[in-house]
Amino acid sequence: MQLDVITLFPEWFDWFADQRHVRNALAAGHELRTFNPRDHTELSGRQVDDTPFGGGAGMVLRVDVMDRALRGVYGRDPVELREDRRVIALAPGGRTLDDAYVDELVAEDGVTLLCGRYEGFDERIVERFCTETLSIGRYVLAGGELAAMVVADAVLRKLPGTLGHDASAVEESFSAALDGDPEYPHYTRPAEYRGWAVPDVLLSGHHGRIEAWRRERSRERGAAGRRLDRDDG
Ligand code: ADE
Repeated sequence: MQLDVITLFPEWFDWFADQRHVRNALAAGHELRTFNPRDHTELSGRQVDDTPFGGGAGMVLRVDVMDRALRGVYGRDPVELREDRRVIALAPGGRTLDDAYVDELVAEDGVTLLCGRYEGFDERIVERFCTETLSIGRYVLAGGELAAMVVADAVLRKLPGTLGHDASAVEESFSAALDGDPEYPHYTRPAEYRGWAVPDVLLSGHHGRIEAWRRERSRERGAAGRRLDRDDG
């Protein structure tokens, strides 16, 4: 897949692109590209943002700059681009990212993530150029870059060949294989440490019992997580 990030801070992604699972994804033919709207603006001083009409704090990314940036990258009107590509504005109030949302993106050939900064985007960017807005949680980051990395990480690790052991992306937290529940607990050597023993069943070699035990722990965790969400919300 081709994952593009439109960001005023492309250098932030250098570190991310150098992580092993990301390098694996790139070696397998997937792409992670970054583009800076500043390289496309015609405004003096490479300006990309402006003060909000109606007043208020902060700066807003300009619609004309984003139009030029997307045209420069894709060679077509972004109003048409979104008809056959998911163009996603990262914003705290968007659709919250979860495993099902990640799976939708994994199924795409190309996805574009727009990172806001300061007060975010001129609303016409979202209305005219984007297919949706995505949030990684109900809190406000200083910009969309870390959110874009969260999305990219969650998506790229699910692509075949990215993780060392492909099965690890199948039976994992929130997957269909676990009916949407979190993953069961894992243990490794030593079997006992400071008197803390690994559950006997995991040392039994009895696959049926191990699987049943894991499924049960996974269900318990799911129920506990839902209780915490309810109590917080
Ligand atoms: N930009 C700022 N805060 C964000 C959030 N929580 N999710 C996605 N993008 C953001």
